Amino acid sequence: MSDTPRRTAAITAVGAYLPEDRLTNADLEAMVDTNDEWIRTRTGIRERRILRDPDKATAFMATEAARQCLERRGLAAEDVDLIIVGTVTPDMHFPASANLVLGATKAWGFDLSAACSGFLFALTTAARMVEAGSARNALVIGADTMSRIIDYTDRTTCVLFGDGAGAVLLEPNTEGLGVLDAVHYTDGSGADSLSQPAGGSLRPPTHETIDARLHYAQQDGRTVFKRAVVGMADAAAEIMERNGLTADDVRYLVPHQANLRIIDATARRMGLSEDKVMLNIERYGNTTAATLPLCLWDWESELKRGDNLVLAAFGGGFTWGATHLKWAYDGTGEGGTQNAEGAPE
Ligand SMILES: CC(C)(COP(=O)(O)OP(=O)(O)OC[C@H]1O[C@@H](n2cnc3c(N)ncnc32)[C@H](O)[C@@H]1OP(=O)(O)O)[C@@H](O)C(=O)NCCC(=O)NCCS
Repeated sequence: MSDTPRRTAAITAVGAYLPEDRLTNADLEAMVDTNDEWIRTRTGIRERRILRDPDKATAFMATEAARQCLERRGLAAEDVDLIIVGTVTPDMHFPASANLVLGATKAWGFDLSAACSGFLFALTTAARMVEAGSARNALVIGADTMSRIIDYTDRTTCVLFGDGAGAVLLEPNTEGLGVLDAVHYTDGSGADSLSQPAGGSLRPPTHETIDARLHYAQQDGRTVFKRAVVGMADAAAEIMERNGLTADDVRYLVPHQANLRIIDATARRMGLSEDKVMLNIERYGNTTAATLPLCLWDWESELKRGDNLVLAAFGGGFTWGATHLKWAYDGTGEGGTQNAEGAPE
């Protein structure tokens, strides 16, 4: 047996970007046949952020989040080895948005398409690279400009989503902190339940696909809801069991923010009380790949070195999973609260 401590990859900084423009439930009432009460009780959402500037998109938000993350760690873009962007709304199909982040010419990287599980899958991928010594560090970014693929005449989807980006920096650790374990799953039978049907190689954009509104995200909400409740709760329970974690051991559940009822079901299955669940869906809606890093950013000042976090997500595709993370530093107080009314006390 070697005495060399296991090398893990730990989060050493967080950053985020949220567009200033807010789309409230009252705004949506004026756009489609819906109401504030329905949206709040069925989803938990009150408002979302929207990136209005037509010349800016996902790479812009990812860059802003990454810049804040690096500034907090005192690093420059040239210091970064690897950049992975979880997104389903890249600026273009190619080049990858990861290529456009920060103009970081010393880094390589790629976009990872796993919908709402994009950040979770990217975190595991980057962590393995850092553990293996293939990268000195890595920026893991979740960024989505959902407003560009949402049909604002479809009340079943337009009330759910918002825009935003979050970033974390991963660096090697030999003290048992960082990304310790992860379980991930995909099931392509979910492709018809939540997708952006046209615009890819199967249905390239034509006048017909545009007229049929197939370039917008479409979902069968009920099917996704049922699968999400089971998928997120199962994955969270599995990661706890595999790592011998009881509810008392877990400081926070960091759940994908798609629907408050899905999050509640996951927390119940884990035996966690409300105060152990990160929640910001009320303020940002579902920002797809950005929800998990936005939670970490909002709660950063609350986190202490050694805290056990369970991250859990479910997304289109279907994709889902959970990660056990030991937080590596005491919160700096620079968390997201400066930009987030109603953030944790
Ligand atoms: C979308 C979602 C909020 C809908 O909630 P729900 O409780 O399942 O509601 P249903 O789809 O059963 O619809 C109930 C009724 O509300 C109506 N409705 C749907 N959207 C509405 C809206 N925005 N405002 C008012 N009524 C609405 C439906 O038309 C339906 O009416 P009907 O009973 O007359 O047919 C829910 O299914 C959900 O969150 N699904 C998962 C979404 C998700 O997580 N997506 C991202 C991937 S992680």
